[in-house]
Amino acid sequence: MALPLTILDSRSPHRRTTAATPTTEARQPRPRRLIDSHGRTIRDLRLSITDRCNFRCVYCMDPGVRFMPRDALLTPDQIVRLARICVGLGVEKIRITGGEPTLHPDLDAIIRGLRGLGDIDLALTTNGARLTDADAARWKQAGLDRITISIDATDPEKFAAITRSAATPDQVIEAARAAQRAGLGPVKLNAVVVRGRNENQIVPLARLARELGVEMRYIEFMPLDSSRAWDRGLLVPADEIVARIDASWPLRDAGRADRSATALRYEFADGAPGRIGVIAPVTRPFCGACSRLRVTADGKVRPCLFSVVEHDLMPLMRAGSDDRVVEDALIEATWAKQAGHAIAAPGFVQPGRTMSAIGG
Ligand code: 5AD
Ligand code: SF4
Repeated sequence: MALPLTILDSRSPHRRTTAATPTTEARQPRPRRLIDSHGRTIRDLRLSITDRCNFRCVYCMDPGVRFMPRDALLTPDQIVRLARICVGLGVEKIRITGGEPTLHPDLDAIIRGLRGLGDIDLALTTNGARLTDADAARWKQAGLDRITISIDATDPEKFAAITRSAATPDQVIEAARAAQRAGLGPVKLNAVVVRGRNENQIVPLARLARELGVEMRYIEFMPLDSSRAWDRGLLVPADEIVARIDASWPLRDAGRADRSATALRYEFADGAPGRIGVIAPVTRPFCGACSRLRVTADGKVRPCLFSVVEHDLMPLMRAGSDDRVVEDALIEATWAKQAGHAIAAPGFVQPGRTMSAIGG
């Protein structure tokens, strides 16, 4: 067997040791792409634009949370610049997250800036508490494609206990309707299922999916809560979620939307509108097909939700470094993306940063 002429050092895509005279292949410039050392390509960027939130969901944020000072955060121009560089490196989808991204005073300008990057799929995740018809229409006008809204319960008391907010399920349902009216579809709803909190809301939420004709996605509780209360006993496994809905309305398997999609999807066998999605990072990890990269509001690249190492882009952004330098940092950080999360393994280490400071 012929030895490869160029040996890639597993620590970095840049450190190449040339074992012999370069071949034609080695002389041709390679496309600059976000590729990791496990063979995965990044196409999906999750951009957290703020760590602030008006909810204090039990699976995410402690009531006593301290937010980062504003001057520690990327400016709207820096956010758009970073996104432009990522698009140049092959990113096709951008999701704006938080905290709660609708609290950002410059959200409209950020959406407009991201739309200006071309033909990318542009989505936003929100808790829906502040979403009016006027907002939805403005964001649509600015170039947003789709909205995902979190709703963990239809029962007002359960909703209040989980979100520890003054918002109501009806407000959030109205937000979903407003997003549909504005053409920000397909609208998706997200619920994190926590044992003892909202497993009795699984079926009512599925009913809501049928009524609204939207995809209702149930997410297994992950150890990313700031109170560090996560415990396997609080997990409601995907199989149980599906079985509970199937007992009320038989479901038909609809597969994953694509190989790197997070959700397993089901349709209602009776042909009702709407769909069920189950995101099962714990019982059915999908790390092998992951195409995601996350950037936090303070400019740190997190190749994985469970990264314990972050790559800080803020110094480069502040110094106004050349695109090429920022590209190199992104390529380097992506290369170091870990294979997976190992939540199920003994000795699992919960990352220091919680979901609210990462963006989902
Ligand atoms: N486990 C699973 N999902 C979570 N989210 C926030 N914290 C967690 C957690 N610990 C979800 C939110 C939202 C998305 C941004 O991330 O419900 O849908
Ligand atoms: Fe991707 Fe990390 Fe989530 Fe796995 S745990 S799906 S690698 S972000």
